[in-house]
Amino acid sequence: MMKPDPATVVALQNLIVGKWLSQALSVAAKLGIADLLGEGPRVCDDLAQQSGADPSSLYRVLRALAGVGVFKEVESRRFELTPMAGLLRSGVPGSLRAVAIMAGEDWTWRPWGKLEHSVRTGERGFDAVFGMPPFEYLPANPEAAAVFDAAMTGWSMHNAAAVAQAYDFSGIGTLMDVGGGHGFLLATILKANPSLRGVLFEMPTVCEGARSLLAAEGLSDRTRVAAGSFFEPIGERADACILKSVIHDWDDAQSTTILRHCREAVGPRGRVLLAEMVIPPGNGPDFGKLLDLEMLVVAGGRERTEAEYRGLLAGAGLRMTRVVRTASPSCVIESVVA
Ligand SMILES: C[S@@+](CC[C@H](N)C(=O)[O-])C[C@H]1O[C@@H](n2cnc3c(N)ncnc32)[C@H](O)[C@@H]1O
Repeated sequence: MMKPDPATVVALQNLIVGKWLSQALSVAAKLGIADLLGEGPRVCDDLAQQSGADPSSLYRVLRALAGVGVFKEVESRRFELTPMAGLLRSGVPGSLRAVAIMAGEDWTWRPWGKLEHSVRTGERGFDAVFGMPPFEYLPANPEAAAVFDAAMTGWSMHNAAAVAQAYDFSGIGTLMDVGGGHGFLLATILKANPSLRGVLFEMPTVCEGARSLLAAEGLSDRTRVAAGSFFEPIGERADACILKSVIHDWDDAQSTTILRHCREAVGPRGRVLLAEMVIPPGNGPDFGKLLDLEMLVVAGGRERTEAEYRGLLAGAGLRMTRVVRTASPSCVIESVVA
C-alpha cells in the first residue's frame, strides 16, 4: 500500500476527534469564559477562580481551543477573545453560546453515542437513552428546555433577517409562526413589515418565553401567542403559516400531519411557508448535511432535498410554488393549497 499523504492523515485525524472540540467548546461556553474575557485579556487562574474550575484543567481546554482559533493565548496562561470566541459571549447579537452549551448537554451528547443504533435500525437515538421522544423530554426538563429555546433563538439570529429580507410578506395580513420558539423570526418579520400581524403557535411550556421576547421587541399589540400542539387541528386562522426548522424535526408521516393542520389553518387561498435548509445535490460541504445527523439521532426527523419537500407538501394537499434562496443557509419553500 502507498504511504498515506501526511496532510490526508492530519485532515482525517482532526475529523475523527471532532467530539473533543465540541465538548471543549461546550464546557468553555457553560463556564462563561468568553463573558469573563469581555473586558480584555485575563490569566487562566483568574478565569478558573471566577468560573469555579480547576486552573490546570481549564488551561488545557483553553490552550486546545486557542489552537483552533477560539481564544488566543497572548502571553503565558493569559487569554483573550478572538472573533469566534466573541460569539460565545451571552447577550451579544448572534450569540452562539447556548448552541455551544447545547452541543455538550447530556440530552444531546448521549444520543450521539447511539448513532450506530440509529444507522442500524433507523430509530432515533434519543429514545434509546431517555426512553421518550425529545419533545416530551424538554417540557418535562425546564433547564434543558431553557438551553434548547435559547439555542434556537441563537441560531435564528443568523437567519431570521435573511428570511425577512428575501421573501415578500407584503400581501399577507396575519402570519402564524407555527412552532415558532420564542418568536425571534416572527419579531424580525413583523419589524420589517409594519402592517403585518402575527400569531405565534407553540407548546404551552414555550409560550411564556415567547410572550417575553415579543413584549421586549415592542410587539405585544401586533401579536398573539397561542398554545397548542400542531399534531391536533390548530384552532387559529391566518393568511399564511411559516414553519422554520420545524418540519426537519419530524418523519414524513408526522410532517404530513403538521402540514395538513397548517393548510386547514390558512384556508383555501392561504400559503404555507417553510424556512429550512434544502440539501443541494453534489458532494460540496453543506451544514444541512451535518444537521441531518443531529435530526437522525436527536429529533428523529431529516433534512430534505427540494424534490423531497415537493413530495411532502403534495401529500398534505399543498403545491410547492417556489424555493426562495436567502443570504443564509435557510431557504423559504413557498406552497399554496392545491
Ligand atoms: C427546532 S425548534 C424551531 C423553533 C423556531 N421555529 C426556530 O426556528 O427557532 C422546533 C419547535 O417546535 C416546537 N414544537 C415541538 N413539538 C410541538 C408541537 N407538538 N406543537 C407545537 N410546537 C411544537 C418546539 O417547542 C420548538 O420550539
